Amino acid sequence: MLKYLGSKRELVPLIGELVRRIPAHTACDLFAGTTRVGQELRSSGLVVHSNDTATYSEALGQAYIAADERVLDRVRLRRLLAELSALPGRDGYVTRTFCDEARFFQPQNGRRIDAIRDAIDELELSPVERGTLLTSLLEAADRVDSTCGVQMAYVKKWAARSHRDLELREPVAVPGPAGTVTRLDAQDLAPRLDGTDLVYLDPPYNQHSYYSNYHVWETLVRWDAPETYGIARKRLDCRTTKSPFNRKREAWGALERLITSLRSPWIVLSFSDEGFHAAGDLAALLGDRGHVRPLTVGHPRYVGSRIGIHDPAGNRVGTVSHVRNSETLWVVGPSAAAVERVTDGLVPGASRAAA
Ligand SMILES: C[S@@+](CC[C@H](N)C(=O)[O-])C[C@H]1O[C@@H](n2cnc3c(N)ncnc32)[C@H](O)[C@@H]1O
Repeated sequence: MLKYLGSKRELVPLIGELVRRIPAHTACDLFAGTTRVGQELRSSGLVVHSNDTATYSEALGQAYIAADERVLDRVRLRRLLAELSALPGRDGYVTRTFCDEARFFQPQNGRRIDAIRDAIDELELSPVERGTLLTSLLEAADRVDSTCGVQMAYVKKWAARSHRDLELREPVAVPGPAGTVTRLDAQDLAPRLDGTDLVYLDPPYNQHSYYSNYHVWETLVRWDAPETYGIARKRLDCRTTKSPFNRKREAWGALERLITSLRSPWIVLSFSDEGFHAAGDLAALLGDRGHVRPLTVGHPRYVGSRIGIHDPAGNRVGTVSHVRNSETLWVVGPSAAAVERVTDGLVPGASRAAA
């Protein structure tokens, strides 16, 4: 699984337990990111629609949400992965941009990424096959990168893992019914989710743009050799590609519009205490859509915050203000009794006050 800011990896068991109590057959993961939550929904038996504006999320969705034995021949997949793994490295865009001009990967791995990515485009592939091969490459690159988990910068000294050889692995098969994938703006998709029983919402919660933070993954999937800028060699279009959920002044209006346009009987919204919106405002907004219960859990912040603040020479010069934050799962359902039934006893000590 990719290192990803705001990934629900730690909350997934709780989300899984929650959704297994909800009487739902279909679900939409509207801001899917790594698809980690969508995978949990799928393995809980739901038919999942996975959506995100990021192209890498679309690839991950093909591998983990849409793939099943009817559309993915795993014998052929393994043969393709073996052929791609055997390719000799060659200098290309990744080597030049992310190994010479920046230092996201060691050159020997960058050269193999270039060769493998070019070769994927030369193959005749179905969308699920293509997404699955790209997922294998993204995850292989993630295991040997030299960052703290975001691509705004690389670490000063090569990360230990960057010395390892790039290794393509087969993305694991996720059990459960096969779902579907789109790459749409959530605002455009939300009003079209009429028959969906449960919508899971995990929008960006502050100013940190996913497009910029994961520009290397975006470029690896698009393979459009964009012009770049700055030390991190970000895509030029990072300057203009912004989500309204990342802009303090627009984020509330965007969330309001989104929630209002949903018709599903169940909504689960994740929101961090480091986000733009106050709990009371969220409770009021969601209260217009049904009965609400917040479940709050604390967890460690992203790894960079625990490493601390360093000067350009690598000396620790400060610590960040806090190393734990909390995240609230806002559960919205059709009646007070139904919400109580699905949330009861889920989080010891969680706030019980229904909004
Ligand atoms: C907090 S992350 C989701 C993390 C995800 N739940 C996980 O576990 O990996 C927010 C996601 O919203 C996506 N996003 C931002 N603006 C969007 C929009 N307008 N429509 C759809 N997706 C959007 C970002 O690309 C990012 O992947």
